[in-house]
Amino acid sequence: MKAITLLGSTGSIGTQTLDIVSQYPEQFRIVGLASGRNVELLAAQIRQFRPSIAAICEEDKLPALKEAIADLDPQPILLAGEAGVIEVARYGEAQTVVTGIVGCAGLLPTIAAIEAGKDIALANKETLIAGAPVVLPLIEKHQVKLLPADSEHSAIFQCLQGVPKGGLRRILLTASGGAFRDWDVAKLAYVTVADALKHPNWSMGRKITVDSATLMNKGLEVIEAHFLFGMDYEHIDIVIHPQSIIHSLIELQDTSVLAQLGWADMRLPLLYALSFPDRIHTDWQQLDLVKAGNLTFREPDHQKYPCMKLAYAAGKAAGSMPAVLNAANEQAVALFLDEKIHFLDIPRCIESVCDRFSADNSANPSLDDIVAADKWARQEVLMATENLEKRSRIISLR
Ligand SMILES: NC(=O)c1ccc[n+]([C@@H]2O[C@H](COP(=O)([O-])OP(=O)(O)OC[C@H]3O[C@@H](n4cnc5c(N)ncnc54)[C@H](OP(=O)(O)O)[C@@H]3O)[C@@H](O)[C@H]2O)c1
Repeated sequence: MKAITLLGSTGSIGTQTLDIVSQYPEQFRIVGLASGRNVELLAAQIRQFRPSIAAICEEDKLPALKEAIADLDPQPILLAGEAGVIEVARYGEAQTVVTGIVGCAGLLPTIAAIEAGKDIALANKETLIAGAPVVLPLIEKHQVKLLPADSEHSAIFQCLQGVPKGGLRRILLTASGGAFRDWDVAKLAYVTVADALKHPNWSMGRKITVDSATLMNKGLEVIEAHFLFGMDYEHIDIVIHPQSIIHSLIELQDTSVLAQLGWADMRLPLLYALSFPDRIHTDWQQLDLVKAGNLTFREPDHQKYPCMKLAYAAGKAAGSMPAVLNAANEQAVALFLDEKIHFLDIPRCIESVCDRFSADNSANPSLDDIVAADKWARQEVLMATENLEKRSRIISLR
């Protein structure tokens, strides 16, 4: 039986991971749970999965959490704050830590888990994108596994099993195309938050759903693929595949192409990250190619979706630039979700912040450099937005 700790247990990745654990109690058990602020769901999860330790990041929610599970015997260790989440990540006998926290908030807990010798089932792509210069050497140093749980990277990882060293020639990431794939570019000027949150194929958290609508998610995945599989950016391509049946492909040196297929269900990559290298028999809906129907493909539209090129450029700039891109994106998406900026402002904000950072980019950033770059980029986006607000107030006063 594998002992698992789950960070971000109350989110989309978290609840789907717990669905797997509840279906296969003889294979997996939960050691630790951590979430952001959702007391009610975390308390219900503690009641059902009986972890040894749990944490809630928002400190003022701890009393409510304690009260919600006061009748449980034995009581788990209950912690709060970022330090509490980090303690859960490194705690006890968990063999694998599933990183389902959204955003760069996952970076320090992931580092703590690696330093404690845990394998990482990586859903939280922002951690690797921002922190790879620090995370990858630590993975090497502590001899732990970094197992992709993102569906595209799991597909690539699955295709790579049995491919000899040097056999990989090209990675082809598939993209659903997000909420606006069939919208005319002129209509993007009128996008609402509700529009951006309607993903055609996947049900996910709000941030990644907006990232899918801007196609920044695919750009982030290009950088993630570069770090996970050591492929240079010239050999990582994106293709739009609206049906989301092929989860990604690899091309080998002899031009043979391998793909991994399945319904759009995140439990499959999560299960493989947890069971690797084994395969667990499931009773989940089997793929029916006739039902799936036509599988179609088209070129990504870089005019309509500038975020992909911004991500390639940041990836190639390396150093702390991917951290800056990621933080600017996180902050811009948060402002968009709060209806403070427009959908089309998201790539504009990111581009201007990355342009301003270029000169300061150091080749081998430390963790402190990365954390500082992340903070700087968020601040820059906030300042730019304040200036925009001031300007529009002045215009409306005139
Ligand atoms: N959802 C998918 O299908 C999918 C697919 C591929 C990759 N991913 C990646 O997986 C990650 C999670 O995505 P998601 O869709 O599951 O997001 P989500 O539904 O928004 O869930 C985010 C989770 O993180 C928790 N959280 C937020 N800040 C935290 C903090 N500082 N400390 C501890 N926990 C914190 C939230 O807790 P509260 O709810 O309590 O606030 C929640 O449990 C993202 O990096 C995303 O890119 C997701």
